[in-house]
Amino acid sequence: MKRIEIQSEAVEKIKKYTVTDQVLGFGKYMAPIMVIAEYKNGAWGKATLMPYGPLQLDPCAKVLHYAQEIFEGLKAYRHPEGDITLFRPELNAQRFNFSAARMAMPEYPVDMFVEACETITAYSRNIVPKRLGESLYLRPFMIASEAGLGIKPAKEFIFGVVASPSGNYFSSSSVKVYVERDEVRAATGGIGNAKTGGNYAASLRSYKRTLEESCDQTMWLDSKEHAYVEEMSGMNFFAVINGVFTTPPLSDSILAGVTRRSLMELAQRRKWPVVEERIHLDDLIAKIKSGACTEAFVCGTASVLVPIASLKFKDGTTIHMREPDGKLCLELKEELINVQAGRVEAPEGWLHPVPVIEF
Ligand code: COI
Repeated sequence: MKRIEIQSEAVEKIKKYTVTDQVLGFGKYMAPIMVIAEYKNGAWGKATLMPYGPLQLDPCAKVLHYAQEIFEGLKAYRHPEGDITLFRPELNAQRFNFSAARMAMPEYPVDMFVEACETITAYSRNIVPKRLGESLYLRPFMIASEAGLGIKPAKEFIFGVVASPSGNYFSSSSVKVYVERDEVRAATGGIGNAKTGGNYAASLRSYKRTLEESCDQTMWLDSKEHAYVEEMSGMNFFAVINGVFTTPPLSDSILAGVTRRSLMELAQRRKWPVVEERIHLDDLIAKIKSGACTEAFVCGTASVLVPIASLKFKDGTTIHMREPDGKLCLELKEELINVQAGRVEAPEGWLHPVPVIEF
């Protein structure tokens, strides 16, 4: 953590900060510190740990007009003995740079990305939650800060990391899904596999409808045929079909989830069958009705793994899963949570220790 400048005001702020709420929720509380670095003249400046606060942006900053921005989501966990680890931060760093390349933004070196995450976590160690299933959610981001109304890639950027002690993303233990057959989240050749705000913005009108239909998540289909399941707005999708964990193969319109990958690897470690296979919606419906598909779930860093209770369609019809509480899925979720929190042996290289620093 030698390369990050530490402002004493930031240290004073975090020393005084506590969270007493029993229900943390997601992204409700922010640590009073952040890491910020600026890119100018073709190079990244030194990152600084400073007090959390508003960023100064020109009203013509390109991010505000042309949405040149990317972000990540990863978590830090407290282990029973008190040590704190980041979960697979290198994978987030790599995906961040994949997104950066897609959005014509400069890479942020993997070691500096990890160091920024380590630093904010090390200083936030007193607010990393203790309860199993809770964590410190980190949100690294990069925005185009250069001013100018011409549509061209910016030359100035801000990188940042903020942190939030978080619990469950959803307030319920299962989700009701609204199937979006008309609108499209991401098209072939587009930016659906980059973690950039535009994809989330594209999902919001349908999400409004999803909420009006008393559902919790929108299911998106492919852009060509509007027939194959892709992902939810901010989460990947799995169905258990004839006992096989089945998820759509990655494509340029599906985000490569770190949780998706980790669950597949943990299922394989248990010798549970896993396949990446295109899932036709009509086929899925038929398999739910016949009982071949009993469980399905959404998964992501923020949400972890949440069983799907039902699928609802535009005409108001709803199909209910036979196992709305996802018995098998929850076994896998428990394994992941226990690995992340250091209660079950983690596969090699998954847990990145956060050094203890005195302040
Ligand atoms: C995450 O899971 O980290 C995401 O970025 C998705 C969003 C639902 C918060």
